[in-house]
Amino acid sequence: RSNPATVLRGPMVYLVDDPFLTDPASAFVHEPDGVVICRDGLIEAAGPYDALRDGIPADAAIHHYPDGLICPGFIDTHVHYVQTGIIGAFGRQLLDWLNEYTFVAEQAFADPAYAATVAGIFCEELLRNGTTSALVFAAVYPQSVDALFEEAGRRNMRLIAGKVMMDRNAPAALLDTAQSAYDNSLALLERWHGRDRLLYAITPRFAATSTPAQLEAAGALWRAHPDAFVHTHISENMGEIDWVRRLFPERAGYLDIYDHYGLVGRRTMLAHGVHLTEAEFGCCHERGAAIAHCPTSNLFLGSGLFRIDAAKDPARPVHVGLGSDIGAGTSFSLLATAGEAYKVAQLNGFALDAVRALFLATLGGARALGLDDRIGTIRAGHEADLVVLDPRATPLLAFRTERARSIEEILFVLMTLGDDRAVRATYVAGRIAHARDGA
Ligand code: GUN
Ligand code: ZN
Repeated sequence: RSNPATVLRGPMVYLVDDPFLTDPASAFVHEPDGVVICRDGLIEAAGPYDALRDGIPADAAIHHYPDGLICPGFIDTHVHYVQTGIIGAFGRQLLDWLNEYTFVAEQAFADPAYAATVAGIFCEELLRNGTTSALVFAAVYPQSVDALFEEAGRRNMRLIAGKVMMDRNAPAALLDTAQSAYDNSLALLERWHGRDRLLYAITPRFAATSTPAQLEAAGALWRAHPDAFVHTHISENMGEIDWVRRLFPERAGYLDIYDHYGLVGRRTMLAHGVHLTEAEFGCCHERGAAIAHCPTSNLFLGSGLFRIDAAKDPARPVHVGLGSDIGAGTSFSLLATAGEAYKVAQLNGFALDAVRALFLATLGGARALGLDDRIGTIRAGHEADLVVLDPRATPLLAFRTERARSIEEILFVLMTLGDDRAVRATYVAGRIAHARDGA
């Protein structure tokens, strides 16, 4: 018992199971007056205040949020820190957007000082939005990965990242080779994977920017380090899919390319998957691979409407998390992202309720990453990553949530109207990492 406990008290919501697959009423926990006791970075106990009040340590600092809503920290399962500076780049779909904006911006991350500055801004922005974990694309330069891990490590965040591997179809200044990508990724993996709360993701950008030799190297690296992650993009845009088909005519489809090189399994995160086929969903299910649903990005780039209902079909469910996909995505807020996921689902004839959406932003993301034994819910033994939402954050939110008849309605309105303003406080490993009103 080395360190004093941190205690949060207030209304509390979290998921204990997948509401797409089980009865949402039993998957969702709402504690009108809850308490979380945190010590040494972990949750020591959590439950109703009345049941736990006698167990609150005398040395504890108690943070009482009677008007707040305590949730597990949000998990952003797909985001590019190196694109923070190009959010809102006008007028293009994926392939032109990459060439005109993205590949230009990412070249600046060869400079470690610039990378460090943006990495700091990025981590602060995650925390301001209640995001305590993220799976992050850096740039092709190893120093861009070092910069991010330094900043995330300083904040004790559970963050996963990797060096982009890309050896064709981009400006020369952004290209590596199959061999250098292997060597540099391996060195970064050995330096960072499992240090503090940091984890490494083998990160081929997408099939169009890797040669077969480089995808082969990525697969070999994963076989050598199977506890690492694989992070890439798939089936986002129709023009992209046509191009990838022409680059790999010998493969049955987009997912089959990654599968052929041994890159599809547990801890694989495939961003987008907007146009995946039924057979490809089936393959993701069999392999345990996950999809990052990035609705603000898919709408901003005009990519298409992801089928959350098809992905989560109980007959062959696929793991799905939410991704901001900054900078094609337009918000760091997973509340806002959930609100856009609702609208995308509407256009597919599916009503994504607040409980399922909260699952995607928390426990669902943790399961997608294979980290649900550590993050994504509020339970003794789990890491104490928490966000305190404020249903009265703005005059409009206050007016609207006063009229809500249930906790589900409050949550849904927070997803419709909320953003960073609705995040009152963020706790990382039991310590306050962001307080909206200072102190
Ligand atoms: N596909 C390949 N690279 C990217 C990227 O940087 N952003 C998005 N949205 N899609 C991609
Ligand atoms: Zn992306």
